[in-house]
Amino acid sequence: MNQNLNETAPPFPPETVWDVEGGKAAGIYTWFKEINEELPDGWVVSDNKKMFMLGGYSYLGLNKRQEINQAAIDTIDKYGTGMSGSRFLAGTTELHSRLEKKIAGIHEKEAAIVYTSGYLANISSLACLLRKRDYIICDKLNHASMIDGGRYSNAKLIRYPHNDLDRLEKILSDIPNSSRKLVIIDAVFSMSGEPADIPRIISLCKKYKAYLMVDECHSMFVLGKSGGGITEYYNIQPDDIDIIMATLSKSIPAAGGYLVSSKRIVNYLRHESRGFIYSIALSTAMAATAIKGLEIFEAERQQLVKRLHGNTKIFKDKLRSLGVPVGNSVTSIVPIHVGNPMKAAVAAKTCQDHGLYIHAVFPPVVPAGKAILRASITAAHKKEDLVSAATTIGNILANLENIETPELSGFNLR
Ligand SMILES: Cc1ncc(COP(=O)(O)O)c(C=O)c1O
Repeated sequence: MNQNLNETAPPFPPETVWDVEGGKAAGIYTWFKEINEELPDGWVVSDNKKMFMLGGYSYLGLNKRQEINQAAIDTIDKYGTGMSGSRFLAGTTELHSRLEKKIAGIHEKEAAIVYTSGYLANISSLACLLRKRDYIICDKLNHASMIDGGRYSNAKLIRYPHNDLDRLEKILSDIPNSSRKLVIIDAVFSMSGEPADIPRIISLCKKYKAYLMVDECHSMFVLGKSGGGITEYYNIQPDDIDIIMATLSKSIPAAGGYLVSSKRIVNYLRHESRGFIYSIALSTAMAATAIKGLEIFEAERQQLVKRLHGNTKIFKDKLRSLGVPVGNSVTSIVPIHVGNPMKAAVAAKTCQDHGLYIHAVFPPVVPAGKAILRASITAAHKKEDLVSAATTIGNILANLENIETPELSGFNLR
């Protein structure tokens, strides 16, 4: 196909945010690295090489648990692999209803609705929960799916500077009392692992009569002594948050995203949310996988979470002892601060060359000048591997100035 049909118009498609070709030419393009197999203890095979996975989200280390695999296999034998339609029509099975009931029970909420992914759950619910002349108020560093959901909504989207709750209060106080308003917030920010000040946000929402939706993708099953998420961490009542959203694709090794709330709100979403109505149902294999994953979580939550927290501490402590700055994460997300995006790219590539499956994250996903290597720890990791990985990272970062980067001029982060 002709690369550019119209020489007088800008190129189609427009340029990517990152100079992908420049990165490839410079030999520091690390994305889409194929995985051939998952091995025990947080190892994978990639390009026929064993690598230590530090970029995955299977926080509780449940992926490949035999009972979970078996649940998926049994379900495929019973239902097949395909779904016959959306949940609204031929796609609701007994498994979907059971899964939603279980999720609602774990969160001590009246009802749950499950979508095929967390991204879809956020954009599809936010697109319909509010109307014209309503307001959605959002932290600038919320996950893309929340920001995108706010954009798809007909409501006015207002974003405030990261963690600036005085600004949030000002915004809320300026909105007429008679308007519908929804504050949306990540419980734990996905790039830093830091928690939002949910207790203060709850009190602001109460004061200004705003509804509150909290994304718990990185806190549910992880935070709190028994993995109860942000409500356990801050000891707040489930009813203080109107809608909790989370994913079934990280700690729970399935796919899907959900919202838990009142029966009234969930019933509304079941009949108004276009990503639920006009898209295929979550596969039965994934529904069964999620149910089994949640059952294991319920039975073993204390031990699994204790191991996860212990592993995270080992990794962070070792990095800190080597002088590596790891920020203030309270979860198993470990942001390893590098600063300069070029250096972060080189560090990620060098880590990969040393057998660590890890990536760099650049602005605009993180603030300008704050590029990181982003590690995430799981309960499956072994102590000695974590210490060894942290040592490798510490050595690479200490040596970063001396690592040759001759082709870097070709890699321009726009
Ligand atoms: C905070 C947050 N919200 C939503 C999502 C989307 O979830 P899913 O991967 O299930 O689409 C993610 C995924 O990375 C996330 O980190």
